[in-house]
Amino acid sequence: MSQQENFEQVIQFRRSNRKFDPNVPVPAEVIERSLQRSILSPNSSNMQLWGFHWINTPKEKAIVAELCLGQSAAKTAQELVVFVTRPDLWKQRKNWHLGQVQKEIKGEPTKAQKMMLQYYGKVMPLLYAADPFRIMAALRLTVSFFGGLTKPFYRTGGAAAVRIVTHKSCALAAQTFMLSVAAEGFHSCPLEGFDEKRLKRYLKLPRRAEINMVIAVGLGTEPGIWGERVRVPYEEVVKKH
Ligand SMILES: Cc1cc2nc3c(=O)[nH]c(=O)nc-3n(C[C@H](O)[C@H](O)[C@H](O)COP(=O)(O)O)c2cc1C
Repeated sequence: MSQQENFEQVIQFRRSNRKFDPNVPVPAEVIERSLQRSILSPNSSNMQLWGFHWINTPKEKAIVAELCLGQSAAKTAQELVVFVTRPDLWKQRKNWHLGQVQKEIKGEPTKAQKMMLQYYGKVMPLLYAADPFRIMAALRLTVSFFGGLTKPFYRTGGAAAVRIVTHKSCALAAQTFMLSVAAEGFHSCPLEGFDEKRLKRYLKLPRRAEINMVIAVGLGTEPGIWGERVRVPYEEVVKKH
């Protein structure tokens, strides 16, 4: 089978299943491999501001299923993985990047290495540093306004932008995970129906962390599929320019 056919098969196989077979466990390696693949997902500036919490023991699973409002996908899941955004880790990640570049530098840094040092050393703090008095936000707005007057300009910054950017990247990791689970012959269901406050407290997450989604995994059953896979027409959502 060609790569294209393999991919098509995985896409068609992945459905949100909400009732998993209680007698078929998911091998730990399936979750491990899928999480390894999630880590390879594209993510903003390669900052990897995410965390994947694999809920593994029956006791923990029961607690998290309750926090997912007792939804059947969560209650019948063999495995649950909570995808979390971690903007609070930005300093650690930029220092990790700086360390990676510094390890490569032999003598005078190359142009590319200088750019990386500038990017992670100067640009990342501008985007991610906490800004309680909104001083940086005002500065960014002004710079964006004048910078964008005559030419395209990357207008970003502020708490909302950080939240959006980290959720985008985390959702891509979650999608990689679900496609990988499908490629391994198992099913999943992404969940946003959970009590975020309680789940955050349960996972002992820091204040700035947010839960992107919870993914339930298992061998799906026929009753776990809630209907045909319907979508609005292609022409309605795809615009050719
Ligand atoms: C961000 C997100 C949150 C979702 N939350 C829930 C949920 O809480 N409960 C649920 O049963 N399904 C949930 N779903 C699954 C969607 O209902 C499902 O993906 C959609 O109906 C399309 O069906 P398909 O995944 O089988 O193609 C969620 C999906 C996404 C992407």
